Amino acid sequence: MIRVIRVKNKQEIAEKAFEIMHQIVTNKPDCTLGLATGSSPIGLYELMIKDHKENGTSYKDVTTFNLDEYVGLPKSHPESYFSFMHRNLFSGLDVREENIHIPSSEGDLEDRCREYNEALAENVIDLQVLGIGSNGHIGFNEPDTPFDSVTHIVDLKESTIKDNARFFDNDISKVPTQAITMGISNVMAARKIMLLANGENKANAIRATVMGVVDEKVPASILQEHPDVVIIIDEEAASSLYKEKR
Ligand code: F6R
Repeated sequence: MIRVIRVKNKQEIAEKAFEIMHQIVTNKPDCTLGLATGSSPIGLYELMIKDHKENGTSYKDVTTFNLDEYVGLPKSHPESYFSFMHRNLFSGLDVREENIHIPSSEGDLEDRCREYNEALAENVIDLQVLGIGSNGHIGFNEPDTPFDSVTHIVDLKESTIKDNARFFDNDISKVPTQAITMGISNVMAARKIMLLANGENKANAIRATVMGVVDEKVPASILQEHPDVVIIIDEEAASSLYKEKR
């Protein structure tokens, strides 16, 4: 079941998301968190760091699993998701390095997928944080990814490469064309899912996710079949909801 929380702006998305995150981490200090990169969760991550510093909320027993990583960028590249997570979250918290899981795209990719699936199978994610692509992707599960997929290698769609060019000097040729991603069934295995989205360019994807047919063409539409999903969106991302389509 999807519950939609509509707020005014990005700051309020971060505040609402933090409230939910904080409750999970304080109720279960050894919880497992599923984490996303991209711009959508950055405000949430800032509030987690601020709260850790000011109020001492500890993440020392928390285990984390990230959704995805580019193929073809070394871990040390500033736009690798490994770098992103350390820069925007882990450097400000007390999560233990050995409890951090980010898919690796180094060496044999089939082996890396198998290992990530094995690690996920040993942990149930208590709270999975998601963003959404303008094409409805979750993780890097692009349209037409089977709903029963597990961690796999994907070819990124043109629209995703264009969307992500902003992190690569707006130069499409610099954006990796492949990624390793948790599959849709890995995401659906989480106890609770929290999807964050802001901005007009997410409005169609949000509409299709919440009100559309459950179809592999819109990966996020499968969330309708999960028992506990909360979608936190600003007015712009909510602007196509509950309106007749023009
Ligand atoms: C990131 C991820 C992607 C993003 C999505 C939205 O780990 O898996 O699905 O969540 O592309 O990205 P932003 O938040 O930058 O709009």
